[in-house]
Amino acid sequence: MKLFVDTGNLKEIEPFAALGIIDGVTTNPSLMARESGDPRKILKQICELVQGPVSAEVVATDAAGMIREGRELAALDTHIVVKVPFTKDGVKACKTLASEGTRVNVTLIFSATQAWLAAKAGAAYVSPFVGRLDDIGTTGMNLIREIVDIFDNFDFTTEVLVASVRSPIHIVESARMGADVVTVPPAVIEQCFKHPLTDIGLAKFLKDWEQAQAAKV
Ligand code: G3P
Repeated sequence: MKLFVDTGNLKEIEPFAALGIIDGVTTNPSLMARESGDPRKILKQICELVQGPVSAEVVATDAAGMIREGRELAALDTHIVVKVPFTKDGVKACKTLASEGTRVNVTLIFSATQAWLAAKAGAAYVSPFVGRLDDIGTTGMNLIREIVDIFDNFDFTTEVLVASVRSPIHIVESARMGADVVTVPPAVIEQCFKHPLTDIGLAKFLKDWEQAQAAKV
């Protein structure tokens, strides 16, 4: 399963990119709004840093505007994946951009039928938002299971990119279900590194070793 970082902040991406564990980045208008500076310059810098798929979302809501903006974003860098929301205009824009060879990530997916239609429109990725489904008392991960099953049944090449990830549990369950990608906020990636028994175990290894060395003196 591929790991994307869900942020528009270069300084948040850098330490994970340096570890060599990052396969891509996803952004959205809310994430980019948090950053100062020219969004398109930031996106270009992220592409140069990560050298993997970087999702950049259009803000136009009409198909013609999405297509125009999508072409501009795609021209920034070969790593750009154009993100469009799942609306009829978004599906139309996806179909056109995909036919031109542009990779499209259809986002704000909340049902299996939306994911299925996005795949039929040629999406390279679909982004189901599991955390927001949990927020309203449904089980977001059930949607991932449905989408993975449907895509497997019909050999869709569209990748399931699990988004709105709120904990390592979402990551583990996504991997167990066979999702292609999980996009994770930096803070949740950090949580994946931590376990108290690892810290306790390492401390004991080092203490035992030091005591053994001291005994030899
Ligand atoms: O990639 C989509 C993600 O940024 C949305 O996450 O936590 O706002 O639902 P969240």
